[in-house]
Amino acid sequence: MDQEIFGKVDHYISELLAPEDKVLKETITSLDDAEMPQISVTANQGKFLQVITLMCNAKRVLELGTLGGYSTIWLARSIPNDGKIVTIEFDPRHANVAKQNIEKAGLLAKVDLRVGKAMDVMVELKKANEEPFDLIFIDADKPPYAEYFEMALSLSHSGTVIICDNVIREGKVLDENSTDERVIGVQRFNKMLASNQNVTATIVQTVGVKEYDGMAIAVVK
Ligand SMILES: C[S@@+](CC[C@H](N)C(=O)[O-])C[C@H]1O[C@@H](n2cnc3c(N)ncnc32)[C@H](O)[C@@H]1O
Repeated sequence: MDQEIFGKVDHYISELLAPEDKVLKETITSLDDAEMPQISVTANQGKFLQVITLMCNAKRVLELGTLGGYSTIWLARSIPNDGKIVTIEFDPRHANVAKQNIEKAGLLAKVDLRVGKAMDVMVELKKANEEPFDLIFIDADKPPYAEYFEMALSLSHSGTVIICDNVIREGKVLDENSTDERVIGVQRFNKMLASNQNVTATIVQTVGVKEYDGMAIAVVK
């Protein structure tokens, strides 16, 4: 019952405020075509990422977990033409599909798609003395979320916004006895976030067409 109304309202909001164009729709179908999981953010969450990007005037964005490039397209569309989004994907098959979708969206010039493990690529970015990022979206594998966040901090400046998806996991975070490594990963992350003196942060619960979850939002002090 709740899920039904959440789904209907999500459609209502997305149709009003986050309608998908052809490229975004085709990005979603490309996942089925390539037998990839349908675990992109929703249209409304994509729009939410755009709003945050504009709120923090982001020119440089870092994304962990590209999948088929759906969130990358929403993000890249909200940065200026001379902006850059570095997006990291571990699975070369996913990266290949993402590249095609980003190309169809005409966004290749703004997107630097790196194939590799998120942590390894972040270490490379740090070694290369890359300019800090204005917005960082963490949406890769869940067990190392705490480590990803710490590393993200070292690639940030005061005012950088860091968003971490899927930190509530249908409320399973409440289960202290969970043996699910993804749940344990986000529990560890949420505790770390609560005690981290370098950010002001909270978690927003997310409901809609996909399962009940939550996004952590942090601003670097
Ligand atoms: C939830 S999906 C990303 C969804 C995407 N952000 C979107 O909303 O369109 C997570 C992605 O992270 C990738 N991934 C998993 N482990 C990774 C790692 N260690 N480094 C980089 N990417 C990883 C997976 O292959 C998958 O494509």
